[in-house]
Amino acid sequence: MKNGRTDMDIFIKHNLTDGRVRSVPCKISILGMDRAEDLFRLHNDVAEGVSRDLFSLAGEEEIQRYLSDEGITIGVTYKDRLICARTIRTSEKWIREYLAETNRTPECYGNPAITGFCVVDKEFRGNDIQFLTQYYAESFLIEDFDCILTSASPNNVHSLQNLLKCGFNIIDIKVNRDNNRRYILKKSLIENGMISIPDRKQISMKHLDSQERFLKKGYIGYKLVKRIHGMDLLFAKLTKNIEK
Ligand SMILES: CC(C)(COP(=O)(O)OP(=O)(O)OC[C@H]1O[C@@H](n2cnc3c(N)ncnc32)[C@H](O)[C@@H]1OP(=O)(O)O)[C@@H](O)C(=O)NCCC(=O)NCCS
Repeated sequence: MKNGRTDMDIFIKHNLTDGRVRSVPCKISILGMDRAEDLFRLHNDVAEGVSRDLFSLAGEEEIQRYLSDEGITIGVTYKDRLICARTIRTSEKWIREYLAETNRTPECYGNPAITGFCVVDKEFRGNDIQFLTQYYAESFLIEDFDCILTSASPNNVHSLQNLLKCGFNIIDIKVNRDNNRRYILKKSLIENGMISIPDRKQISMKHLDSQERFLKKGYIGYKLVKRIHGMDLLFAKLTKNIEK
């Protein structure tokens, strides 16, 4: 990574268990191997009680890999307490291994970095830190990768909402290692095509088969919209880049 590793100070809401809310100073930084135990604990605390369909568990070895030079882990800490972590696979070997599980290669997408999990301590949710750490991570990826790939469960509305808001588009639906269907999302780190909004389709979140048909026709999912009963996804076609 050519970028300097700059920490960032933020003030965010801490929702205390007794119902009070206060503002506290936190730090966003890149975590090293010395935080392995904290990362493992936060991952496990968040995973407890969350269905495997929404959140795939990472093993101890995988978590250590994110902290090694095979990945990047962005952490948010309040004093010494780790309250958020976002992990990304960056080594070519690991990216190939991961994609091979579903018969894909990096070349299918360009030159991607691949996100792992993002977890936020329950007492600190609602601060948009999943969103914030995504943007923070980009400054460490932009020089070496031309896009970021991630996946999300069609049932994980909070995560999906954050990903679409910060510029990811749904490009495919695949079955993961736990045999659940997941959206594959991509965010370009280079200037690319534009989406053609007038030609958009609005499809219910529940109709995955219909969404899949439009993805196969070259549409991408770009926005979640609320309806009275449930949510829809907006899909549009990618068009060639238009010079201004
Ligand atoms: C997905 C996740 C990282 C988002 O955390 P976040 O950045 O704090 O979320 P946001 O700031 O966008 O939250 C927006 C609102 O949704 C609420 N919210 C967020 N996640 C929620 C959850 N899992 N359950 C209930 N409410 C949740 C927040 O409290 C907030 O409400 P408010 O606006 O009334 O304050 C977090 O929910 C989480 O750790 N989930 C479990 C692990 C997971 O699913 N990770 C993503 C896939 S790897």
